[in-house]
Amino acid sequence: MAEQKKSDRLYFFVNGNKVTEDHADPETTLLTYLREKLKLTGTKRGCGGGGCGTCTVMVSKYQPSSKEIVHFAANSCLLFICQVHGAAITTVEGIGDTKTRIHPVQEHIAKAHGSQCGFCTPGFVMSMYTLLRNEPQPKMDNILEALSGNLCRCTGYRPILDGCRTFCQESNCCQNNGDSDSCLSKNENIDKLDDDAPKLFNARAFAPLDPTQELIFPPELIRLETENAQETLTFRGERVTWVSPVSLEELVQLRKDNPDAPLVFGCTIIGPLIKFRRKEYAVMISPMRVHELFTVTHTPDGVWVGAGLTMSEVKSLLQRLVEELPFEMTELFRALVQQIGQLAGPQIRNVASFGGNIASARSTSDVNPILAVGNCTLRVVSAGETREIPVTQMVSAKEKDLIISVFLPHTTTGELVRAFRQAPRKCNAFATIIAGMRVLFNEGTREVQDLRIYWGGFGPTPVGAPKTCATIIGRLWDDETLSQAYDVLLEEFSTISSNEVHFRRSLMLSLLFKFHLEVQHRLREMDLPVFQNVITDDLPAAMQSGIKSLPKDIQPGIQEFQGVPEDQAEWDSVGHPIMHRSALSQATGEAVYCDDLPIIDNELFMVVVTSDEIFATLTDIDVTQARNARGVADVITSRDIPGKKVRTLYGYKEELLAENKVLLCVSCYGQMVCAVVADSMTNAKRAAALVKITYEKLPNPVFTVEEAIEREEFFEPRRRLERGDVEEAFANVDHVYEGEIRIGGQDHFYMETQSMLVVPVGEEREFNVFISCQWPSLTQQAVAETLDIPLNRVTCHVKRMGGAFGGKLTKTTILACITAVAAWKTKRAVRCVLTRGEDMLITGGRHPVIGKYKVGYMDNGKILAAEVEYCANAGNTVDESPAVIEKMICHCDNAYNIPNLRASGSAYKTNMPSNTSCRGFGVPQGILVIENMISDVACKLGRPADQIREINMYNGPSLTHYKFPFDSENLQLCWEECKKRSNFRSRCWEVSLFNQRNRWKKKGISLIPIKFGVGFSESFLNQAGALVHIYKDGSVLVSHCGAEMGQGIHTKMQQVASKELGVPLSKVHISETSTAAVPNDGPSAASFGTDANGEAVKLACQTLYRRLEPIRQQSPNSAWELWIDDAYKQKISLSATGYHRGPDSCMKWDEMEGQPYPYFTYGVCCSEVELDCLTGDYMTLRTDLVLDIGRSINPSVDIGQIEGAFMLGLGLYTTEKLNFSKGKLYSWGPSQYHIPAVCDMPLQFNVYLLPNSTNPHAIYSSKGVGEPSLFLGSSVFFAIKDAVAAARVDSSLFEPFRLDSPSTPENSCVACATSFTQKVPVNNDVSRNEF
Ligand SMILES: Cc1cc2nc3c(=O)[nH]c(=O)nc-3n(C[C@H](O)[C@H](O)[C@H](O)COP(=O)(O)OP(=O)(O)OC[C@H]3O[C@@H](n4cnc5c(N)ncnc54)[C@H](O)[C@@H]3O)c2cc1C
Ligand code: FES
Ligand code: FES
Repeated sequence: MAEQKKSDRLYFFVNGNKVTEDHADPETTLLTYLREKLKLTGTKRGCGGGGCGTCTVMVSKYQPSSKEIVHFAANSCLLFICQVHGAAITTVEGIGDTKTRIHPVQEHIAKAHGSQCGFCTPGFVMSMYTLLRNEPQPKMDNILEALSGNLCRCTGYRPILDGCRTFCQESNCCQNNGDSDSCLSKNENIDKLDDDAPKLFNARAFAPLDPTQELIFPPELIRLETENAQETLTFRGERVTWVSPVSLEELVQLRKDNPDAPLVFGCTIIGPLIKFRRKEYAVMISPMRVHELFTVTHTPDGVWVGAGLTMSEVKSLLQRLVEELPFEMTELFRALVQQIGQLAGPQIRNVASFGGNIASARSTSDVNPILAVGNCTLRVVSAGETREIPVTQMVSAKEKDLIISVFLPHTTTGELVRAFRQAPRKCNAFATIIAGMRVLFNEGTREVQDLRIYWGGFGPTPVGAPKTCATIIGRLWDDETLSQAYDVLLEEFSTISSNEVHFRRSLMLSLLFKFHLEVQHRLREMDLPVFQNVITDDLPAAMQSGIKSLPKDIQPGIQEFQGVPEDQAEWDSVGHPIMHRSALSQATGEAVYCDDLPIIDNELFMVVVTSDEIFATLTDIDVTQARNARGVADVITSRDIPGKKVRTLYGYKEELLAENKVLLCVSCYGQMVCAVVADSMTNAKRAAALVKITYEKLPNPVFTVEEAIEREEFFEPRRRLERGDVEEAFANVDHVYEGEIRIGGQDHFYMETQSMLVVPVGEEREFNVFISCQWPSLTQQAVAETLDIPLNRVTCHVKRMGGAFGGKLTKTTILACITAVAAWKTKRAVRCVLTRGEDMLITGGRHPVIGKYKVGYMDNGKILAAEVEYCANAGNTVDESPAVIEKMICHCDNAYNIPNLRASGSAYKTNMPSNTSCRGFGVPQGILVIENMISDVACKLGRPADQIREINMYNGPSLTHYKFPFDSENLQLCWEECKKRSNFRSRCWEVSLFNQRNRWKKKGISLIPIKFGVGFSESFLNQAGALVHIYKDGSVLVSHCGAEMGQGIHTKMQQVASKELGVPLSKVHISETSTAAVPNDGPSAASFGTDANGEAVKLACQTLYRRLEPIRQQSPNSAWELWIDDAYKQKISLSATGYHRGPDSCMKWDEMEGQPYPYFTYGVCCSEVELDCLTGDYMTLRTDLVLDIGRSINPSVDIGQIEGAFMLGLGLYTTEKLNFSKGKLYSWGPSQYHIPAVCDMPLQFNVYLLPNSTNPHAIYSSKGVGEPSLFLGSSVFFAIKDAVAAARVDSSLFEPFRLDSPSTPENSCVACATSFTQKVPVNNDVSRNEF
């Protein structure tokens, strides 16, 4: 037997330092290697699947053929270390740090306030850095493209873009330099801005980019690449061998010897298969050095493109050819450039290979349908023989042949090729449908010689439409031919089985219609001799709207706020736009999140095992195999819990781990059953897969609210509020209307998944819990109860969270309890960090709600009676559902004075994962129902919705429906201000003019108010404490109850302490939130953090200030440090606590009255959208948001909260659809669940803080800001609805119609009821969405 070649040495550079591995494990990803081996934790793991960009690094490679060094951004979570052999990797730590020199990219993003929780920031920094390495003076388009693969859940992207814009040519001309032709002047309102108006940042003070300062590519790599180019490389891991051949023959032989081995180029298919589908390969073949696969050969008829080229390389090549070749020869190339440009994000396109996309034959392949219509050929090797075959043949053969190259033919005069793609999000999302269409005309005629149509999205192979094509071929291209073709197409695809069948079939018709318009338009536009006089009729302007793209130019927005009073002390930072205190360290990757904590000696990793069944008895949990698996320390089941095995809320018990034969059953898919602890994450995961759970299914699980209503399955208490005489009012109104709307749930999608580390201290049963959570003392209490120890033995530490949004309260606590049991049992530190999929599965989200309403109104639009019923899907446990329902009901009036109002709500119990609190806490669902009701009233009366809103709005001193008196003056002011700032009246007119002139694009505009109660209605939660120490050197350490999750609470508390003590901000430090420093905290939630903690910090500082008074009196001109030194010597205590006893809010449900909140935050938002009625795609053209937040303590932090919450709302109402089927979640990560990306930002986003507002109920007259503007994201929903209504008018439909939330392209397109959607019979759509 031939001796096995030993493993080669793997080498690459990281941040200028050489890394070598003699025993490289091919299964290790670059991300794991960076974080665990090199301890470079700046690069974050957000999803692990290539969809979020938090793990972005720059890869630099030397290309021997061109002798060039290329730099590209890539997702390190999908790259295996063997893929970067010979490359130089730059991580966020490699470009700058706060100790030596911060890089301009890091500085600009941080100082433009583009970092809130900061978890996404290193990824954005690296995407932008890479762009600047390739393009030091980028255009805005380049920036948008470069950032399209990165997700941020906090900022709403505007400040990130503003930071990046400072590098861009256009913005260099206009950052406040007054140039009349600058890009800022495109925003008409910017002209009106006072030059002295306060600004959020001053870009002129930022360090300029100096490309000479960048790390050079290591010369050693160039030498090694040249020397070793001809040697086969082999890396042997424990389970996998990685081979990189150098010749085609060797590659072919390797494939023959290892028929199951995948070829690995970008690994964007293979990586996720290994990680998420547990696919195992003994051998992986990397053909990256087989030059035939990277060759480009031009022929007179087209170009042969090496299959190994990345998508980005293919796009660049084709773009070049489009510029060089005559226009008519590049129809196919242009279609491919457009299509590839929309495929995934740049990090994926930069590594994903052309051949890999073709060969992997995914239904979502963006290129296969285009290649199929383009008559493209593949050069393949099979059985040692090189052949040329049509693309369609290879795709259906699936992975049997090795693709060497792809032939892309030129097109000829009279040939048109188009690519279409419809996706749930405008960028970085797999397409729902892809279409390639190509037509060839007989010379000089409009007679169709040939036509090809291929559809993607229905299965591995693009599906042709031969019957439809046959209907058209040989005939004249005109409306009559096409109208017959639509019927044939419908018939040809009558049996497709897929999700959203109705939408997909209508979309097929719409896309063919778009092609029809394109063909007509292009033939005229081309003005070729052969076509002159062939098509005489101009495409009517209204029809052209079918092929015009939606606008996409982002313009700078306005952020307007009041400056500080002129007499305010210079050192007093309150009211100034102070940068988030950790923004710089977040941008450099130095900021430490829970999973960045160094590994502790003997540390274990915990993975939870969840139920595969929805409703079943657990008959056995067999952990034997798992327990014996490699590296496993233990398996934790419910029996191991020494203390309380359940948590009790509202009298309902929730088990921490499902019990075997005790509580008898699991009641949802994803319920936690047991947990495996092992010496590494990999070993814990492998062992977890070995746990065998046997179930006995129980009958009749409940999935939907309707089923739960029928079976009367709900959690107590149900709530009801009523004022006036509703029945009598209904009897006396002019009109009564009844309607219903469904609002889907929402995943929190904080970028940092649930993370914790529990460390036994070693004596007296003490535990340190390092955790990413919003309510440390709840975790402390739950852990203590679970371990049956007093609370004083458990200390919870929260340094910061990578976002939370209400999702790091109760569910985090349960996970912490299980982790603590593991730590207690094994006596070792245990870390638990959920993967994105586990997090989405286990932790629940916002409650989906069905809202039913009945409204009684007069001819003049006045609403006199309304009855609203909220039915929420709580899932399998109670969690905080009753409180969510309460807040929903308390907000059901929103901004309207409805004299006779009845609202009721119930949390229904189903076999779905339990839902929990989520930013806004029921208000976003509750108000949407009432606003939808108002839209319906407007539609019924044929009047603009804003008029009905205005007629019914609270005015002056008012009473809510629970008899709470308040003054609505600021609500009215916001309304008027927003109308004025948005030029609402004239834009409504322009919108209606646009709609008259355009058949297939419609605009919509809406004006939506919010009245949001700040604080907790459970009075005991309205409290906070603070502890302030002044040390001998004069430095100040502030501790308080608020947990930093990106909302900037530490920054604001630093400002408060600095103001109260009269010291500069730099003297004040906040290290963490700890139950040891300040006990018994309330949650950081309900927009109440600053109100409560601010007062506590203020009180503590005032105590200290008073103690220092005698010393200050003695030497008033002395320095702070000397006063402190004096105080110490005079034995004055330099430590003080502050305690804020918040408002005694209460709600007397039996009496249907109360004062659940101390005050309201008001706001009004105007959004305008443009909708493509043929596809349901839309773009938010402009948003103007006016919010009354009193006197802002920190306008940059507050505006950041406002914009971020707005975008979270925009996601809730328009893009974020959770897919469930029969209780099983199908949204496991960013590829299946679409939070807004940079492409979803309003093209113009203006925020104005209402001036001269005060608030006696909160610190420094400020107001809570974290949640209120979330609901204002619904202005986009209502603008879409307005646009849909305009489309329906063209179909002679004038009545109110149903548009559920989220108004995804599917929902909006179907609601438009165009001739195409109406052609498709509505069948039993197997839509995966459960309410
Ligand atoms: C987050 C994310 C988003 C994505 N979005 C999109 C999208 O919007 N549109 C889209 O089309 N795709 C998308 N993809 C899929 C993927 O990027 C592409 O299909 C990609 O082109 C695959 O190439 P690769 O080099 O990464 O394949 P690899 O994972 O390296 O290989 C994939 C498979 O193809 C085989 N193979 C590779 N090259 C050859 C060859 N030359 N001959 C024969 N077999 C070969 C391999 O054996 C392997 O089985 C996405 C992927 C991710 C992770
Ligand atoms: S963690 Fe790599 S893309 Fe999300
Ligand atoms: S700052 Fe972007 S995810 Fe938090």
